[in-house]
Amino acid sequence: MQIADRLSKIPPYLFMELRKKINKAKADGIDVISLAIGDPVEATPTRVVEELAKEAKKAENHRYPTDEEKGMLAFRTEVARWYKRRYGVTVDPQGEVLGLIGSKEGCHHFVLACINPMDTVLMTDPGYPAYRSSILLGGAEPYNVPILLKNNFLPILSDIPTEIAKKATGIFLNYPNNPTGACATKEFFADLVRFAKDFDITVCCDNPYSEIVFADQERLSFLSAEGAKDVGVELNSLSKPFNMTGWRIGMALGNADIIAAMSKVKENTDSGVFNPIQLAAIHALQHEEGTTKEMLSIYQRRRELVLATLKSIGIDFNPPQGTFYLWVPTPNGVSAIDFTNRLFDKTAVVVAAGTAYGQYGEGYIRISLTVSDDRLTEAMQRIKKEFA
Ligand SMILES: Cc1ncc(COP(=O)(O)O)c(C=O)c1O
Repeated sequence: MQIADRLSKIPPYLFMELRKKINKAKADGIDVISLAIGDPVEATPTRVVEELAKEAKKAENHRYPTDEEKGMLAFRTEVARWYKRRYGVTVDPQGEVLGLIGSKEGCHHFVLACINPMDTVLMTDPGYPAYRSSILLGGAEPYNVPILLKNNFLPILSDIPTEIAKKATGIFLNYPNNPTGACATKEFFADLVRFAKDFDITVCCDNPYSEIVFADQERLSFLSAEGAKDVGVELNSLSKPFNMTGWRIGMALGNADIIAAMSKVKENTDSGVFNPIQLAAIHALQHEEGTTKEMLSIYQRRRELVLATLKSIGIDFNPPQGTFYLWVPTPNGVSAIDFTNRLFDKTAVVVAAGTAYGQYGEGYIRISLTVSDDRLTEAMQRIKKEFA
């Protein structure tokens, strides 16, 4: 039996490997605490669940989703209102918004819609692993653009070799950034639009952490940059702001031609999101900003706990103000994987090794703040006991 060659190019999915490691330790009776995955432990707001239950009881909602692959017009309209309210961005729900099964799906469909096999596609290193997989599944070649602490983890676009920029047809970015927590600036997005225009590169700005920012960090959409809609799309989702990772609902917004092309991919792949989920998502967008606010204060509290613990064991740094991750430098030049293993062996606490996100993740681990306060406190106590 043949398995397609394209699959052999895909590195094993980071969280699958972690899951295996966790499962083995659990099977051995060890109390493992995983701080490796960004998946909020808190429940979806009750009223959103109730909305789903109410709509799921209606027979008319049991059929293929209305407005098919694009998403219900009511959902797309609410997304447009959300972007206007939260980011000052105007999009036309008819042609510039597409419902998605999460922003991850959008990464894959962006490649199928905009990138040809053998093309070069830029992506940040470190970066969200699904970008590489999407590029490779589309038969294209990823080109890693380093993002470094000294540049606030933003890519220096002018450092990309001209022959690569000329050859590239797409770029994946994500700010607030997984894994570094860095946030972009308006100036950076303006530069990105210029760069994309100069080299005819299509931008996929993946923004599912847009609402997860601390202190006085501004919430920002790439689409707020002048001319952004000429060069790309933004992906977003309800996963992170409303504790809805399992619901699988998100959106793409921006350039109408790209939205139409992605919509064509969806038309030939799936038939959209279950209507009751879209209706519950409308409810979340309309009424649940309070949940996001509450989650931000929970994450803030957890950030402080982790930072204080790390400081007490000699790891002192100033983290950027976005996402529910901490991108932590390893002590004394220990490699990312060695430190991850050492932590696990001594404390049964799992973190993500920075190199899982690319070669420039060397020297870092990523800690996620999405476990309960109790478990995080326990994890920090174990770390303090073993490393202080
Ligand atoms: C940068 C980035 N993009 C996309 C996703 C996927 O999110 P969604 O649940 O919207 O598919 C994640 C999830 O961790 C992420 O970190």
